[in-house]
Amino acid sequence: MAMRIFAVVVLCAVFLGVRIIAGGKEDNVPTTNAYCKIVWLLGIPCEQVNVAIVTQIKDMASYKLVSLAPKLIQANHTSGFGQLERVNFTMIPTSMILGCHLQGTSVSAIWFSLFDNGANYCNLRNVIKGSGLDKGPGFLEFTNEWLCLGCRQSAC
Ligand SMILES: *[C@@H]1O[C@H](CO)[C@@H](O)[C@H](O)[C@H]1NC(C)=O
Ligand SMILES: *[C@@H]1O[C@H](CO)[C@@H](O)[C@H](O)[C@H]1NC(C)=O
Repeated sequence: MAMRIFAVVVLCAVFLGVRIIAGGKEDNVPTTNAYCKIVWLLGIPCEQVNVAIVTQIKDMASYKLVSLAPKLIQANHTSGFGQLERVNFTMIPTSMILGCHLQGTSVSAIWFSLFDNGANYCNLRNVIKGSGLDKGPGFLEFTNEWLCLGCRQSAC
């Protein structure tokens, strides 16, 4: 049983790794800014994921919704130090009937904030955690130091 779960997780990681790299080319994100990208897999429909994220963003004073569409939610996040980060949540239905592939990106607006102490990671993580989506069925999170600055040392 344990071996089987392990095999599935490894397969997913390989599959997502390819998608992460392919997705990175389309995004056109400035590499001079502090940046974080996280991919989540969820066992619920994207419509439900969209509603949960929007509800959570509206509930947090430090976030401002910029635009809202079925497949893309854009927001600004401001910290207590006047730093601004732009945040995107992109939803793609998975081939699994009820699943959703969710990608979060957060980019600091100021070019010199290259070391963000995990701020961009926390911008994304706090929305997912606050919305309770991380407690949902089939939840998986994929990121690493290469895709997400400060994701190891940050404590959100
Ligand atoms: C979001 O931030 C950008 C600057 O990066 C600004 O131009 C835009 O007006 C902001 N939008 C909202 C709704 O605050
Ligand atoms: C969010 O998506 C828009 C439209 O695709 C793109 O122009 C922008 O650079 C993205 N921002 C982030 C933080 O990924």
